[in-house]
Amino acid sequence: MDSSPAALAEIGVIGGSGFYSFLTDAREHHVDTPFGPPSDPLVIGEVEGRSVAFVARHGKGHRFAPHQVNYRANLWALRSVGVRQVVAPCAVGSLRPELIPGTVVVPDQVVDRTWGRPHTVYEGEGAVVHVGFADPYCPAGRAAVLSVTTAAGQPAVDGGTLVVINGPRFSSKAESRWHQAAGWSLVGMTAMPEAAIARELAMCFTTIALVTDHDAGVDGHDSVSHEAVLAVFADNVSHLKDTVRRVVAALPASEGDGDAQCPCRRALDGITLPFD
Ligand code: ADE
Repeated sequence: MDSSPAALAEIGVIGGSGFYSFLTDAREHHVDTPFGPPSDPLVIGEVEGRSVAFVARHGKGHRFAPHQVNYRANLWALRSVGVRQVVAPCAVGSLRPELIPGTVVVPDQVVDRTWGRPHTVYEGEGAVVHVGFADPYCPAGRAAVLSVTTAAGQPAVDGGTLVVINGPRFSSKAESRWHQAAGWSLVGMTAMPEAAIARELAMCFTTIALVTDHDAGVDGHDSVSHEAVLAVFADNVSHLKDTVRRVVAALPASEGDGDAQCPCRRALDGITLPFD
């Protein structure tokens, strides 16, 4: 076990436990944070020559439901080991007939319908920080996903709005129709506050959304079942892992706050974090 807070990894991956095996020379790294421990110890290793820290969003054995995940601790832990770019694969439902199960989407917008989840790292008197979130996702990370999936012959869908519900239940048909009528294309349970906390820590953040089902009522589909979601995820996890591996290889080198291509790293504009 290793516990020093030095810069050990440049890229973070937050994913399901099926992702452990994609790291080489992997070792566990225990980190504590002001918000408690992350869902699981970080696993730090290499992917395509890049140093990567992985955290299992739901913990080993899927112990934490979406509303129980310690999003603040997961992101703080990644940032504390040097991570400035995060790739976050997740399972989503589709709100559009044409986005069929198995499709990979790189959303460009998010709507937060979660509640009761600690959603900021800035708490307590004097901690007044308002980060910009007009464009929640990293332009360089999104471009990397689109370019590697196109090169591999299975282009991801470019853009779309992901609405994040609190769960753990799925939506009713009326809720789902409301989400569709608003023009949103995907529904999930984990993408917020994950993306917002990444921005609060001036980290680039890119969601890679794998469609596992048509949400209730979409295109005549009935209720969604957890078993069906897991089965489709399992069928696609190896493709998703390949995609994440290629994305990691394609991400621009981390250049601290001054990376010209990317506004995410300058989100704090002069505020210093304990890691800096
Ligand atoms: N994750 C996967 N499918 C989903 C759905 N239909 N609604 C919310 N979260 C999901």
